[in-house]
Amino acid sequence: MLEFQNVTLKVQENTEEKVILSDINLELQSNKIYVITGPNGGGKTTLSKLLMGIRQPTSGKIVFDGQDITNLNITERAKLGIGYAFQQPPRFKGLKVRELLELAAKTDNNEVDLCKLLLDVGLCPQDYIDREINNSLSGGELKRIEIATILARKLKLALFDEPEAGIDLWSFQKLIETFKKLHEDQKVTLVIISHQERIIELADEVIVVGDGHIVKRTTKEDILTQVTSDSACGCNAVCDRRR
Ligand SMILES: Nc1ncnc2c1ncn2[C@@H]1O[C@H](COP(=O)(O)OP(=O)(O)OP(=O)(O)O)[C@@H](O)[C@H]1O
Ligand SMILES: [Mg+2]
Repeated sequence: MLEFQNVTLKVQENTEEKVILSDINLELQSNKIYVITGPNGGGKTTLSKLLMGIRQPTSGKIVFDGQDITNLNITERAKLGIGYAFQQPPRFKGLKVRELLELAAKTDNNEVDLCKLLLDVGLCPQDYIDREINNSLSGGELKRIEIATILARKLKLALFDEPEAGIDLWSFQKLIETFKKLHEDQKVTLVIISHQERIIELADEVIVVGDGHIVKRTTKEDILTQVTSDSACGCNAVCDRRR
């Protein structure tokens, strides 16, 4: 469903040219869960930004369902069903949770559906549906609302960058259930950037990115059975698996 063909991203840093991603070739299939892991600074977030259309490659091609999307921007890709969970959901002055979810679902959803979305992410609809999206919401609450918008959007491909960051254990469990629901009920292809063992466990395939390259594509078992003194991704850096 998604292909990166010889994708390279270079930036100009002072007078030097710096290669962030080098000749990436990657093919992802429908209705699978992919977990991308690897060392800090390896290129994971940059890869996801290229996939979303937030950044454009210097060379190479990105193809989605047979269509060349290399030059499409984030909105155009969103229309094709590619969605991204931001670290923080966008905040527009005065926008309420109800309106954000309706925008995401692109319908005047009836209240029952919106409430169900909130319940799915562990928020009491009565308390939250008319809250404004502003600084009065905690980081974890914002994160849950963002995930509810992903559920509402009926995507073909959903991308999450370290979704576990900043949420409590209970919410983390909800997040895992949400991923399963997106995958099993909505048949969404998931691309999740994570170092978390319990997220890696969901993967049909693990993609290790390091030093601007695809280091390997492998099974979760391969990653999870690596010696515990080593990090999960073989990154030799700070990583949840090094315990
Ligand atoms: N615009 C830019 N200019 C210079 N360097 C950049 C730019 N964008 C990204 N980089 C560098 O590219 C490398 C990859 O960054 P990226 O954010 O993709 O890493 P990552 O794998 O997501 O890391 P982390 O695990 O820490 O989130 C980093 O060294 C980063 O500093
Ligand atoms: Mg990153």
